[in-house]
Amino acid sequence: MQIDEKPPFDTPFEWIGGEGQVRVLVDRFYDLMDLEPGYKELRDAHGSTLQDARDKLFWFLCGWLGGPDHYQQRFGHPRLRMRHMPFSIGILERDQWLACMDQAMGDIGVDAALRARLAQSFFQTADWMRNR
Ligand code: HEM
Repeated sequence: MQIDEKPPFDTPFEWIGGEGQVRVLVDRFYDLMDLEPGYKELRDAHGSTLQDARDKLFWFLCGWLGGPDHYQQRFGHPRLRMRHMPFSIGILERDQWLACMDQAMGDIGVDAALRARLAQSFFQTADWMRNR
C-alpha cells in the first residue's frame, strides 16, 4: 500500500492487529533496549527493571493508537511531557527511542505503510519529550 492511500481500517490500533500485537511490539521494544549496545544511554535512563515501563507503555499505546484507554483509566490524563521531566532527555535519547521503536516495528512485521506513518507520529511525541 502507498503511504498516502487510505487504509482499510478505522484505527491504527486495528491495523496493527489489536492488543495482542501492541503487547508484542512493546515487549520487543524493551527487549531490544536491554540487548542492543546502540541503545545504552536510553536503557541507562530507565530503572533496573523495565516491567513497569512495559505495562505502562502497553496501556498507553493502546489508547494512543485509537484502541481502549487503559492508561487513562488507571492514571488519568497522560501528561507525558510532565511525567518525563525526571529523566534527562536530549536528541541522543530521543533518537535512540525512535530507532529502538522502529527496529521493534520491523522485527514484529508491522505493515510498511503503517510503520512509516507511526514513525512520523512517534517523532512528534518523542521530540516533545526533550527537556535538555
Ligand atoms: C524521547 C525519549 C524517551 C525517553 C528517554 C523515555 C524514557 C522513559 C522513562 C525512563 C520512563 C520511566 C519508566 C519506568 O516507569 O520505569 C518512561 C515512561 C513512560 N514513557 Fe517514555 N521515554 C521517551 C519517549 C516516550 C514516547 C515517545 C512515549 C510515547 C509514545 C513514551 C511513553 C511513556 C509512558 C506512557 C511512560 C509511563 C509514564 C508513567 O505513567 O509514569 N515515552 N519513559
